Amino acid sequence: MATSAGRVAVYPGTFDPLTNGHVDIIQRGAAIFDRILVAILVNPAKSPLFSVEERMRMAREVFKAQPGVEIDSFQGLLVEYAKRRQADVIVRGLRAISDFEFEMQMALMNRRLSPSVETVLMMPAESYTYVSSRLVKEIFALGGSVTGLVPDLVETRLAEKSEQAGHRA
Ligand code: PNS
Repeated sequence: MATSAGRVAVYPGTFDPLTNGHVDIIQRGAAIFDRILVAILVNPAKSPLFSVEERMRMAREVFKAQPGVEIDSFQGLLVEYAKRRQADVIVRGLRAISDFEFEMQMALMNRRLSPSVETVLMMPAESYTYVSSRLVKEIFALGGSVTGLVPDLVETRLAEKSEQAGHRA
């Protein structure tokens, strides 16, 4: 459904934290759709490193010069959020075959829940196919370098987090 707002896509995820792989997919999505909503799932059960507000602030800073990219959060069913925001496309990144099974399951389940919402799977640049938020957090926590894997701002925030954790310990 193309509305007056044009074609709107949702790029949902946990983004704890945003990686350069995510940034790559958002840029590709922004080149295709009139607007891409980066929708951060509110899911305290996952005990994230960064709060939803922190993740939103970082993403907003990274995409501040791109009016076609909106950062938002959502709770509950993704297809309900998409409907509310008049988005009829869900964008997800596909790094490797290992991602495929889960992505296909989600895409088909979301289609069952809302047949008018189409999932578009996009491949990031090859250099990001092995990047994940989980590995970024693990590498950083163990003292490894994450330069080039996440936006500079995210690297700074990771350093601040570990400093805060150090002060608390
Ligand atoms: O970054 P992630 O953790 O792979 O993102 C998963 C996400 C947020 C896209 C997925 O868990 C989701 O859509 N959750 C919202 C609840 C929902 O709609 N569940 C049914 C999906 S088929």
